[in-house]
Amino acid sequence: MTKKEETNAQADEMVVTPWEVSGVMDYKKLVKKFGTTLLSQKEIDVMKKYSKDGLHLLLRRGLFFSHRDFDWILKQYEKGEKFVLYTGRGPSGHTHLGHLVPWIFTKWLQDIFDVELYFQMTDDEKFLFDQKMPFQETRDFAYENAKDILAVGFDPKKTHFIFDSQLTSTMYRIAVEVGKRVTFSTARAVFGFTNESNIGMIFYPSIQAMPCFLPTELKGKNTPVLIPAAIDQDPYWRITRDVAPKLGYYKPAAIHCKFFPGLAEGGKMSASQPETCIFTTDTPKLAQKKVMRSYTGGRETMEEQKELGGEPDKCNVYWYEYYLFESDDKKIATMRKDCLGGKLLCGQCKKALAEKLSKFLEEHQERRNKITKEQVDKLIIKE
Ligand code: TYM
Repeated sequence: MTKKEETNAQADEMVVTPWEVSGVMDYKKLVKKFGTTLLSQKEIDVMKKYSKDGLHLLLRRGLFFSHRDFDWILKQYEKGEKFVLYTGRGPSGHTHLGHLVPWIFTKWLQDIFDVELYFQMTDDEKFLFDQKMPFQETRDFAYENAKDILAVGFDPKKTHFIFDSQLTSTMYRIAVEVGKRVTFSTARAVFGFTNESNIGMIFYPSIQAMPCFLPTELKGKNTPVLIPAAIDQDPYWRITRDVAPKLGYYKPAAIHCKFFPGLAEGGKMSASQPETCIFTTDTPKLAQKKVMRSYTGGRETMEEQKELGGEPDKCNVYWYEYYLFESDDKKIATMRKDCLGGKLLCGQCKKALAEKLSKFLEEHQERRNKITKEQVDKLIIKE
């Protein structure tokens, strides 16, 4: 096998579903497989026009990279038809940095376009999909996670929570309308359900589809919806988009991000590997410890590193700086060059990142600690 064939074979093993992300990511291939579209300069230029401070780093550096109908959303916006944002969280534990990434970007979109956000907390999903999860635990985590969401800085006047365990009659009616129009065979093909899947799981996609149509029902007029999330959630939008015209709604649009890496070699940040994951509740000291143990693109010995140089493309520390912490293009280019040239050693980079991360966590936690359950409750849609 040639090297190219080998890489292709590995990419073939790539699995991306709402419940599993594994294998070597080949995002170009994924876009083709899912039938989404790469973001183009046209959409980027429109965002630039509305942002006073230029493009967000997550966009400029390409973590957000793909979409469905985002061009249409922007066209309607320019004609004066405002969209709303919709995103969500399955509250199975504490929030990690990977979850924050799409939320940070969603806040930026809320700010530049001055739009409302509907945020769904799928405590039912986590109860149904995890055999060991007691319902009360996921309901409690929903409130804990909601504090992180508000700590990101969304405008509370323009932010609404949907807590699935507190579904309203309008929400339930929409979910049932969706459920009636998706066959088991479609759901099985899209989500891989088997005879062992419980029947709650099979109905659940209707619940995640529902917020795409809720704003239209609440406002009494067809309302465009844009969903910022990692690309793992896209299978939901595929079925929702099929159903939308049958119910007289606009198809929801989506803007997708790649997966923010964990601290181990390869793979996305995932709570299932807590030692490679930075939780928003980690003490800055613990987070520093995790960073100091991170996988990097470094060589076996210092001598080899100086001679051969490091491999930034394989290095989590580099990617954390690239996507989140180092916005200065010149500094990131120098970091890359010095790493490749063997001038920069992994210990130095880890230490610098650990400091930035500590500061980030301290600031986030300060905001988070001020948010009460009552403040969250006030934003939950109750009728
Ligand atoms: P959940 O709780 O698995 O993830 C919450 C959000 O975080 C994104 N995400 C990541 N993004 C970048 N890098 C990572 N390593 C990473 N890990 C997770 C997810 O794509 C998601 O945007 N079923 C959903 C809850 C949900 C939802 C939605 C999500 C309901 N409605 C609408 C997005 C949009 C879930 O369990 O997400």
